[in-house]
Amino acid sequence: MSLGAAAFFCLLLSLRVQDAAAADLGFTRSDFPREFVFGAGTSAYQYEGAVAEDGRSPSSWDIFTHAGSMPDKSTGDVAADGYHKYMEDVKLMSETGLEAYRFSISWSRLIPNGRGAVNPKGLEYYNNLIDELVNHGIQVHITLHHVDLPQILEDQYGGWLSPRIVEDFTAYADVCFREFGDRVASWTTMDEANIGVLGSYGNALFPPGRCSDPFGATKCTAGNSSIEPYIAANNTLVAHASVFSLYREKYQHKQKGIVGINIYSYWSYPLTNATVDLEATQRCKDFLYGWILEPLVFGDYPQVMKKNAGSRLPPFTKAQSELIKGSLDFIGINHYFSVYVNDHPLDTGVRDYTADMSVDLRRSRTDPPAGQGPPTNVPSDPKGLQLALEYLKETYGNLPIYVQENGIGSADDSLDDTDRIGYLSSYMESTLKAMRNGADVRGYFAWAFLDLFELLAGYQSRYGLYQVDFADERLPRQARLSARWYSGFLKHNGSSALVSRTRVNQALNLVS
Ligand SMILES: *[C@@H]1O[C@H](CO)[C@@H](O)[C@H](O)[C@H]1NC(C)=O
Ligand SMILES: *[C@@H]1O[C@H](CO)[C@@H](O)[C@H](O)[C@H]1NC(C)=O
Ligand SMILES: *[C@@H]1O[C@H](CO)[C@@H](O)[C@H](O)[C@H]1NC(C)=O
Ligand SMILES: *[C@@H]1O[C@H](CO)[C@@H](O)[C@H](O)[C@H]1NC(C)=O
Repeated sequence: MSLGAAAFFCLLLSLRVQDAAAADLGFTRSDFPREFVFGAGTSAYQYEGAVAEDGRSPSSWDIFTHAGSMPDKSTGDVAADGYHKYMEDVKLMSETGLEAYRFSISWSRLIPNGRGAVNPKGLEYYNNLIDELVNHGIQVHITLHHVDLPQILEDQYGGWLSPRIVEDFTAYADVCFREFGDRVASWTTMDEANIGVLGSYGNALFPPGRCSDPFGATKCTAGNSSIEPYIAANNTLVAHASVFSLYREKYQHKQKGIVGINIYSYWSYPLTNATVDLEATQRCKDFLYGWILEPLVFGDYPQVMKKNAGSRLPPFTKAQSELIKGSLDFIGINHYFSVYVNDHPLDTGVRDYTADMSVDLRRSRTDPPAGQGPPTNVPSDPKGLQLALEYLKETYGNLPIYVQENGIGSADDSLDDTDRIGYLSSYMESTLKAMRNGADVRGYFAWAFLDLFELLAGYQSRYGLYQVDFADERLPRQARLSARWYSGFLKHNGSSALVSRTRVNQALNLVS
């Protein structure tokens, strides 16, 4: 491209960024409290690659992807190669003005046998990454389990289906707190505790890929969708609570961090105002949020879950209920879209979690019901995030909340992602509105910092503020327009200072 054309291109980009940042936005960084953090995230299997390097043992995802389970038959063997490129990436985060970074630890890299000896190379990697973040003034937010269990624990006792997981998960967390906790602001025990167990044991979209007919997304070979998600959630809740109390007793007074759990969130609107649909909408919220949050806040499952799942929902003993209740410093949500809900009378035959919920979910008022679980390709609805945050505040005692994932996937690899800027800015504004209505939201993390191996779509969908060119074996990163826009919002208060800076960056990139 000639210099003249390049300059014109820069001008175009700058004007667009200015439009998005100044004209469309009715808010700036300084409308949010100073202590509020804006960040972006990744997770270990999706980012690191280097799956067989430096003593890491396979996680359940390695086995799952190597069995050809992804729609594009892809694996996270290399992913975004974060294991080798984290220094470069932290530099990009710093240049972007990221205030916090959310990532997860690969349990099987840190403790390859699942329990016992710590892998010195794994320890070194996470220590280096954390130091690099701290040196750049970026707050560290760690998830302990982002649905990637050491396969050895799957093989030995069925992973989250066994109560034995509680002791091993607690010991793993203990290592993390001891080794890294002096530099970590926030610990999330589980990513998507609700949807995670459904993916793993209900519909087999996640490893270990267990399900029973007719509930699986694919042909089921082993599992029991009627009961296993409930059993795994029971063990997850007890394991979470055990880790929470460990931190509280042994670490929190020195390390001053916080411990919470992450749940998948979507907002549900009633399809009609008929009483049955209003009740169905509440039931949907009880199953989605209440499954995890009612035990953690109040000590037991929602009444409607006990009624509809009956004896398949394991009851808590008094001691378990007391351990679990109140074991939460914050709620983390991953939120992307909203659905419309109407009543679906309870099936009388064999049921799974979705059938127990007894609702139909639609992507819009006019679409047909989605079938199993939530619909896909749902249009953006920023208002739904505001409503979800306000609902969580009302229902669960106004705990601090972090929006830990929000973003938009695209099959289009382009750098010119104005649609992503529109999506992110509108959801950020909804967050602000919820805060103005009293929700105690403490942070917002875009998903994802850069393009990754996506858990449902492999490499077919891109979420990154930064593009990764997976076709080039050097995996070069390049800022999308959204990264420049986010940077302007964070570093220049969303003001027009961004424009000249963007022009400079663009010119540099195009010339080099
Ligand atoms: C629920 O979890 C606890 C802790 O792992 C365990 O002791 C209990 O047996 C579990 N209940 C069922 C039915 O699996
Ligand atoms: C699943 O477990 C339930 C309760 O134990 C049992 O009634 C049902 O037959 C099991 N289903 C399968 C497919 O094994
Ligand atoms: C249900 O009632 C509310 C409040 O009266 C109203 O705003 C909404 O439009 C109604 N929804 C439908 C689908 O009729
Ligand atoms: C950011 O911009 C807003 C709106 O223009 C202004 O009120 C605020 O003072 C600015 N804050 C800083 C720190 O510059």
